[in-house]
Amino acid sequence: MRRPLVAGNWKMHGTKASVRALVEGIRQGMGEVAGVEVAVCPPFVYLERVSTLLADSDIALGAQNLCQVPQAGAYTGEISDAMLLEFGCRYVIIGHSERRNVYGEDDALVAQKCVVAARAGLTPIVCVGELLEEREAGHTEQVVGRQLAALLEAEGGLEALRRAVIAYEPVWAIGTGRTATPQQAQEVHAFIRTRLGEHDEQLARDIRILYGGSVKPGNAADLFGMADIDGGLIGGASLDAGDFLAICRAARP
Ligand code: PGA
Repeated sequence: MRRPLVAGNWKMHGTKASVRALVEGIRQGMGEVAGVEVAVCPPFVYLERVSTLLADSDIALGAQNLCQVPQAGAYTGEISDAMLLEFGCRYVIIGHSERRNVYGEDDALVAQKCVVAARAGLTPIVCVGELLEEREAGHTEQVVGRQLAALLEAEGGLEALRRAVIAYEPVWAIGTGRTATPQQAQEVHAFIRTRLGEHDEQLARDIRILYGGSVKPGNAADLFGMADIDGGLIGGASLDAGDFLAICRAARP
């Protein structure tokens, strides 16, 4: 049985005061989400604070990115795997579409980051997904297949995927209020599982595949009800404790 995971991607949001209120709000509702793994991914500068606020809770901490070079080095502006571990991170989001599309991260870099994270003992949440024009041209499987191939073919990539979570996030659904229908999402999730199964059947059975893109309290249950959807990566709605908890409740097994 794959344990459902709901992870909040706070992106570049928050203040010292608001992250405290948000964590306190989420903590209060954790009694109602039995069986669901819950994680929050604040901006780097709040990791230490959030880690302290999460003490003695069942909520896991994640980061939103990491450097593709392990440990330490002359990489101005970057944050390493070792730093994330020292600050209590279990998860790290990798290859989010905003990293790919705004900062030009390509498939090879995303794969490198995935391997570095997994080797450090972090759980990478690796994002894949197509642009609107790619979907409209009928290229969704081609694009997601290419993104997966880069992960599978990287040195150490298959090993890293055994520790990873995949997030399918159609780019046209992120922050737009336009969600993939449960059927549209399920089709791609099934494709991802099948494609991974061609390399490793056990991996395909075990790996959690999250859906992300305008998940809200009102649509979460239908999405999470699909056979190959194992939870969600939540952006906007994760900034409101009540909405985030409602989404977590919808993921209960
Ligand atoms: P959204 O973002 O829920 O605001 O659409 C999801 C994501 O980008 O991870």
